[in-house]
Amino acid sequence: MKVLVTGGSGYIGSHTALLLLEAGHEVVVVDNLSNSSKESINRVAELTGKEPSFHQVDLLDEAALAQVFAEHNIDAVIHFAGLKAVGESSIIPLAYYHNNVAGSISLLRAMEAAGVRTIIFSSSATVYGDGNSIPYVEKMEIGATNPYGRTKEMVEDILNDLGTADSSWRIALLRYFNPVGAHPSGRIGEDPLGIPNNLVPFIAQVAVGRREKLMVFGGDYETPDGTAQRDYIHVMDLAAGHLAALDYVNDKAGVYRWNLGSGVGTSVLEMLHAFERAVGHDLPYEITGRRAGDLPAFWADASSALADLGWSTTKTVDQMCEDHWRWQHNNPNGYQEG
Ligand code: NAD
Ligand code: UD1
Repeated sequence: MKVLVTGGSGYIGSHTALLLLEAGHEVVVVDNLSNSSKESINRVAELTGKEPSFHQVDLLDEAALAQVFAEHNIDAVIHFAGLKAVGESSIIPLAYYHNNVAGSISLLRAMEAAGVRTIIFSSSATVYGDGNSIPYVEKMEIGATNPYGRTKEMVEDILNDLGTADSSWRIALLRYFNPVGAHPSGRIGEDPLGIPNNLVPFIAQVAVGRREKLMVFGGDYETPDGTAQRDYIHVMDLAAGHLAALDYVNDKAGVYRWNLGSGVGTSVLEMLHAFERAVGHDLPYEITGRRAGDLPAFWADASSALADLGWSTTKTVDQMCEDHWRWQHNNPNGYQEG
């Protein structure tokens, strides 16, 4: 198949592009490089020996998108492009709604015009909000509690409506839990701009000496060690979930939603200690107050993805940390030189 990957030079997109190429698909990447570097695509080409077609295009530029669809005979779209910082989304909500919601509409209009009807969408566990019991199951009522999460919920709604209005659409909504890790080569990985918001990228920067110590947000949760629990998923497992979803929807019209997680909760301190094992020594940390908006614990019920797609996670938390560390150690400044 020829697959258009929006946001394909970003963290999850680049790992998925790599697996698509390895599986024999052709890959066309559209990215405006607002949060990534073209170097990731160069390295995907180096690792696979196959060159994705790269277009520096903003999703909001419908004319440029139409041009990409005109140039390539696209069979399916995997749609990663979007802004993803929860805290920032409360400060500049309009930018988030414009980029993530209007950008998705622009993409869907271009797909409709080009006759492309297959899309895999990056949703998030954040759509479950704070009113659900754990583990989260796909059929639960959703209700995000921040603008970023609401952009995901809105795009899910748009895709549901599209699938209802026109039964030829093949739509997969993938709700990711907490992606971490990197390709085992250490050549591609997550390269956050500025101070990382997420736990593992922050720990990795402490380990490499770019940050003094990890601040653990909350040590008084009702969890076994008092720190919050999340469902971490290796980015290679997550990427494989996209290929499985693509396979599934390719011959089944409709709208499908799957959690992509491991089904296991890991605490902040357990994650820190796994990273310390990968690095080979202790890392400095301090327990501080809870982060506003954080939940004590959540993880996926991942049984639907197993039943429908035959997909489940394969990598342990130790492997996630080892691979993340290899990437960070070999590329202390991410894709930037020096
Ligand atoms: P990322 O920032 O590394 O990748 C997103 C890519 O989209 C970037 O390369 C960016 O330049 C590009 N982009 C953003 N807006 C664009 C636009 N208007 N036009 C073209 N390109 C644009 O993020 P990621 O971690 O790879 O996440 C991929 C997707 O998965 C996002 O939609 C994100 O919301 C979702 N998601 C991520 C996580 C996570 O923790 N990483 C969790 C759940 C869901
Ligand atoms: C965050 C987002 C969520 C998004 C997810 C993607 C918030 C409120 N939520 O979730 O919408 O889907 O990322 O991966 O931002 N922690 C520390 N110190 C740090 C950083 C994090 O203790 O420096 C803790 C957090 O309090 C949390 C855990 O580590 O308990 C994981 O944090 P993070 O990686 O930011 O993920 P989420 O909070 O699950």
